[in-house]
Amino acid sequence: MRNTEVYSVSPLLSCEDIATLERAADIIKSGGLVIFPTETVYGLGADGTNPKAARSIFEAKGRPADNPLIIHIHTPEQAEKYTYTTETYYNIAKHFMPGPITVVLEARGTVPSETRGGLETVAVRCPEHPIANKLIELSGVPIAAPSANLSGSPSPTTCSHCIKDMMGRVDMIIDGGDCDFGLESTIIKLEEEGRVTLLRPGKITVEELRSIGLSVDIAEAVTAQLKEGEVALSPGMKYRHYAPDAPLYLVDGDMNHLVDYLTAISCGRVAVISYTEDMEALGNSLPDACLYDFGSREDRACQAHRLFELLRRIDGEGFDNIFAPLPDKSGIGLALYNRMIRAAAHQIIKFDGE
Ligand code: TXA
Ligand code: MG
Repeated sequence: MRNTEVYSVSPLLSCEDIATLERAADIIKSGGLVIFPTETVYGLGADGTNPKAARSIFEAKGRPADNPLIIHIHTPEQAEKYTYTTETYYNIAKHFMPGPITVVLEARGTVPSETRGGLETVAVRCPEHPIANKLIELSGVPIAAPSANLSGSPSPTTCSHCIKDMMGRVDMIIDGGDCDFGLESTIIKLEEEGRVTLLRPGKITVEELRSIGLSVDIAEAVTAQLKEGEVALSPGMKYRHYAPDAPLYLVDGDMNHLVDYLTAISCGRVAVISYTEDMEALGNSLPDACLYDFGSREDRACQAHRLFELLRRIDGEGFDNIFAPLPDKSGIGLALYNRMIRAAAHQIIKFDGE
């Protein structure tokens, strides 16, 4: 059990805020654990060059030791010390760093095997959130950080999520407010020059990656279920992902078809995640269902921002079944699709005809 201190820090970084971050950096340097906000989700950080500190991240999260960590750097050039960079890396860095993108590169011996989960590669990310970026700079080491949730819970997007999962398991939690995007970073693996494989979709979209001249393959596991015995390109793909207590079904087709469906079969206490535009009609037709507003139909950024908060809120409310719209796979939709089909254990209900 650790004594967890919680501090509020403003992204505007006043002198007082910097003093708190210096204290956090001292904890990192001495092998401790600090939770900090990023533009995607909160991270649980430790010195990525310290094998013992890396091991304590796995312990705090209850995470399998072969699931590697991302090292967070404060400038793209800092990757030189820990990886073998390429021209393609710098092309990506020029366009998207600092920002919500993670690049998997060949690792140098400076990154301990514990951080890499035993792989020959390491994932690097240069966050743009001022608190995250400053903390890395002050620490003087790359910060290894997975999402700051207990293994099996959705990634935390607010300080209260971190407190709920991690109080007593880390040395410090930095409250920097709600995370802007709300889903984890885009992860790409560099193949030969100019070619990348998308391992996890995020805010930086496939379309944006192609627009800078990259050839992008999408790993099968991004949209499909791994087959029995198949080796995952990214170890994280093979682990059970967050699934709510009640089964979640994704609705492919007009959500209004749900009304007939739910009237025809008994589904017990039902929660429906609905686009704002459908809230009123669904509310009138399904007075017993509990509706949650996902944001406007076309506002993917709002949906990304709300998804994990909604899933955390709905869980533990004792519902028998949960329904949500199946997102399309373009733009940021692919990141929503990827997280939601996992939370739904790939259960999709298809309604034909609109
Ligand atoms: O937005 C984010 O990326 C957040 C914030 C804190 O930066 N971090 C995050 O870390 O989501 P984590 O550990 O929860 O997810 C990282 C994923 C895991 O699925 C892991 O398997 C994969 O990245 N990964 C890490 N290193 C890898 C490598 N060398 N090769 C392939 N996949 C890797
Ligand atoms: Mg995670």
